[in-house]
Amino acid sequence: MVSRVIPVEVFDLVIFGGTGDLARRKILPGLYRRFLSGQMTSDSRIIGAARGELSDADFRKMVAESIAEFVPKGRHDPAIIEAFLSRLHYVAIDAKGEGGWDNLKSLMRPDVVRAFYFSVAPSLFGDIAARLNTHGVADAQSRIVVEKPFGRDLASAQALNATLAQQFAESQIYRIDHYLGKETVQNLMAVRFANILFEPLWKSEYIDHVQITVAETVSVEGRGAYYDKSGAMRDMVQNHMMQLLCLIAMEPPYHFDPDAVRDEKLKVIRALDPVRPEDIVRGQYLAGGGQGGYVAHSENPSSKTESYIAMKVNVSNWRWKGTPFYLRTGKRLRARTSEIAITFKEPPHSIFDDAEGWRENVLVIRLQPDEGMNLMVMIKEPGPGGMRLMQVPLDMSFAEALGDEAEDIPDAYERLIMDVIRGNQTLFMRGDEVEAAWAWTDPIINAWEGKGDKPQGYDPGTSGPEDALMLMHRDARRWREIR
Ligand code: BG6
Repeated sequence: MVSRVIPVEVFDLVIFGGTGDLARRKILPGLYRRFLSGQMTSDSRIIGAARGELSDADFRKMVAESIAEFVPKGRHDPAIIEAFLSRLHYVAIDAKGEGGWDNLKSLMRPDVVRAFYFSVAPSLFGDIAARLNTHGVADAQSRIVVEKPFGRDLASAQALNATLAQQFAESQIYRIDHYLGKETVQNLMAVRFANILFEPLWKSEYIDHVQITVAETVSVEGRGAYYDKSGAMRDMVQNHMMQLLCLIAMEPPYHFDPDAVRDEKLKVIRALDPVRPEDIVRGQYLAGGGQGGYVAHSENPSSKTESYIAMKVNVSNWRWKGTPFYLRTGKRLRARTSEIAITFKEPPHSIFDDAEGWRENVLVIRLQPDEGMNLMVMIKEPGPGGMRLMQVPLDMSFAEALGDEAEDIPDAYERLIMDVIRGNQTLFMRGDEVEAAWAWTDPIINAWEGKGDKPQGYDPGTSGPEDALMLMHRDARRWREIR
C-alpha cells in the first residue's frame, strides 16, 4: 500500500529558473502529480520567475507541454490539468537588478507557507537571497531550496554557505540531493532501523564489503561544458554516492528527526579515511556505437575529466574498521542500474562436507530500475541427492508487491518539495555535512590534478575501464555484473 496522502499546508512556491530544464522536466510535472493526488490543494500557487518576458498564459502553456511530455499518459486528467494550470503565475525578474521584485512581492500572500526554489546557477544564489529580503518578498518563516552543485570545492561551498547565512537561518535552507528523495534510499533506513533482522549483523564482524554502483547509459552530450568542469567525482560521488554511503554506514539516530539523522551522517563523513591514489580508477568513455567519445561531447580534445570513477573507501570507526566500501559510477556503461550490495562473511564453520555451490549471503538494494530488495541465501539443492547447497534469491520487487500503487510512488523531486512545504529537513543536506563532504573530496581531486593524471579510456557499453576490475581482484573480490 502506498501511504495515505495527507494534504500539505497552503503555499506560494516561487521557482527561480521557472522556465529552465529542471523546472520543465522535474519540478513542474512533479507538482502536477502532487496536485493530482490531492497533496497540493487548490488554494496553493506556483509562481515561475525567470528573465524572459512571459505572460501567465505563456507560462501555463509551457507547463501544459511539460506535463504532456514528462507525465505518463495514464495520469493526464484534462480537468485536473486545467485546475492545476490556473494555480500558476509568472513574473519576469532580474536576479542581479531590481526589475520585477516588487511585482513578485505583490503576488505573495500573508499567512501561507512561502518557499523559493533556486533552480539557477549557484553564482546567482547570493543575489536572489539578498533581494528576497531587501524587497520584503520573504518572511521569517520562508524556506529556500537550493540545487546542486553546491560549490566545487570546500572553499566555494563555505563561501556559498556564508552568503546564504547572511540572509536565512539554517533551518530555512533546504539543500537538495535528489538521491535522498528516492523511495529505495529512504527504504534503506526502514530496512536497517525498523527490523531486528539486519542491525545485529550490520558491522565489520559480519560484513565482508559493500559495493555501491550507479551506472548510467547516457553520455554527457548536451551538457559537456558543465560536466567537463565537474567530472564523476564532483557530479556524483561528493553528493549522491556519499549520501548512500552515509545511510548504510551511520549509527542509528535516536529518533527520525532532521538533526538526529544528519548528525549521524556527518559522523560517517568525518570518519572517512583519505583515499590512496592506488585505490582510485578514473575512466573516460571512448567513441563507439555510432556516437562520439567524451572528448567530442565535452568539446575539449585534451580533457582530463573522468566520466567514470571507481574507488575503495574505508570508514575508520569501530563499526566498519576492516570492511571496505567500493564505489563506482560512470556514463555510457552497459546498463542503467543503481544498487547497493552488502556482502556478508562466510559462516565461521561449515558443517557440510561438500561445500560445493557455496556462496556468501548478499543483500542487494536496487535503487533503479525495478526498485526493490533481494537477499541471496543458501538452501539445499532440491532432490534426492546428497546435501548439496545452492544460492537462491529472496526477491522483493516493489512494483510486484505494490501492484498499481507503485505508480503513485512520488518521484524524488515531488517528495522533497512536499517536505519543504511541511518544513521537514530530514532529507536535505545541512551546511556542515556538505562542507565535510568537500573536505574529504578536495585532497583526492587535488592529488590527481596535481599529477596531471589522465583517465583510462573505456569502450561504451562496457562496465568501465579494465583497471577497475583490478581494484577488486587485488582484494580477491569481484564487482557485481552491470546489467
Ligand atoms: C545528477 C547528475 O545529479 O544525477 C547527473 O548531475 C546524473 O550527471 C543524475 O545523470 C542521475 O540521477 P538519476 O536520478 O537519474 O539516477
